[in-house]
Amino acid sequence: MAENFANLIGGEWTPPCTGEYMENRNPARRSELIGRFPDSGPEDVERAVETATHAFEEWRAVPAPRRGLILKRAADILDERVEGLARAMTREMGKVLEETRGDIQEAIDTGYYAATEGRRLFGRTVPSELSDKWAMSFRRPIGVCGIITPFNFPMAIPTWKIFPALLCGNTVIWKPAEDVPHSASLFVEILVEAGVPPGAVQLVHGRGESVGAALVEHPDVPVISFTGSTEVGRRLGETCGRMHKRLSLEMGGKNAQIVMPDANMELALDGVLWGAFGTTGQRCTATSRLLLHESIHDEFVERLLERAAALELGDGLDESVDVGPLINEAALAKVERYMQVADEEGVEIACGGERATGKGLDDGCFFQPTVLAGVQPGMRVEQEEIFGPVVSVVKFADLDGAIAINNGVPYGLSSALYTRDVRAAFRAIQELDNGISYINAPTIGAEAHLPFGGVKQTGNGHREGGWEVYDFYTETKVAYVDYSGRLQRAQIDTYADEG
Ligand code: UN1
Repeated sequence: MAENFANLIGGEWTPPCTGEYMENRNPARRSELIGRFPDSGPEDVERAVETATHAFEEWRAVPAPRRGLILKRAADILDERVEGLARAMTREMGKVLEETRGDIQEAIDTGYYAATEGRRLFGRTVPSELSDKWAMSFRRPIGVCGIITPFNFPMAIPTWKIFPALLCGNTVIWKPAEDVPHSASLFVEILVEAGVPPGAVQLVHGRGESVGAALVEHPDVPVISFTGSTEVGRRLGETCGRMHKRLSLEMGGKNAQIVMPDANMELALDGVLWGAFGTTGQRCTATSRLLLHESIHDEFVERLLERAAALELGDGLDESVDVGPLINEAALAKVERYMQVADEEGVEIACGGERATGKGLDDGCFFQPTVLAGVQPGMRVEQEEIFGPVVSVVKFADLDGAIAINNGVPYGLSSALYTRDVRAAFRAIQELDNGISYINAPTIGAEAHLPFGGVKQTGNGHREGGWEVYDFYTETKVAYVDYSGRLQRAQIDTYADEG
């Protein structure tokens, strides 16, 4: 009998008001049940909001450096438990152990960065235009933050949001993706152990349509941070716009790796294999387009096919495996539908293209690493996010052409250019229309202390990571202190002596 897990509300593990549970299964072996997790409803969200609203008054009063120390402890505990957590994450969402370890490392880095920000969180003190008057700005927390996270980085992405939200003195209600509730439960346990007070973080498991929607529509949750699909993000944007909420969106990508004829080909091959097939292609930063200069195109594709066909598929817990399963049957069905689209568009499926079976894969959601060749700009497989181990190869004639193809999609998260020409590199980093560009490195590789985010339909202008995220989780307030003892009118008395 599988364990029934609970929500965390006010520091107590609480069963859902609905009494309903959802099964969570290992995507590498669907017959293996991980547990049953709350299928919560609006009433659970209501309780969480009440608790978080109450807790906000106390948590905001804790000095920021002390809040930072608690987060440092959380990062220390993550560090001590990397191995156990990585295994639980791989079992739950499929990516290989090396990657889940990296995911936790990113959470640790984010925690240490947040801890130091507790001793900064700076505003500005600037001269006033009038004598004997001070002018300064400082940051205040906002209130209860609704945090909605995806399955693909079960530790890193939640910490990008939860750590800065808490550091700034906000309280949190977290709805993790339905596919990774176990990782989420393990993470909040660590927060509690580190000393985050009861009520500062609530974990409410459930579906987007019920828990997510209730959170976004709740009038007492003024901040929403979401990473997920552009389609859901658009709906959240409409609701948050109507309710005047602050909203941070991180959504889709259709990231390209561009290879110039002067590039180090071996390096570029390593880059695309890691970028396209790491996390089974389920990253918003995945390399889903490979743009090849016409002079190297055929040879590069040939070598890519060889390397892609040699990738070992299987359970991510097995250290010899390169690529794990997709997250669930629905994801698999989506990738399969795109193979049909590719076929209709007259694209050549140069390798892969099918569900992977045999050799112990039958019970899992495995899909063969797939290379689509002869793709033209504007085709659906070139424009739309597939979120699977599929890369579309497009040929280009010169750098201008490559930049135009890169920029010709609705998304703008990351891009990569492989070249030895410094002029091409600097031109590209200015002209590639993305939030992040890499030179001689793949489309994935963001570090915790730099801003992460994209342009166009990838985001809505906010950034995670770096100090930029602290702008999102705080309200800037300004204070003027006039100690002149007389009425000094700004603008009017400022220039009075000048006649
Ligand atoms: C994502 O692609 O969904 O390097 C997040 C990166 C990762 C995070 C990726 N650290 O881009």
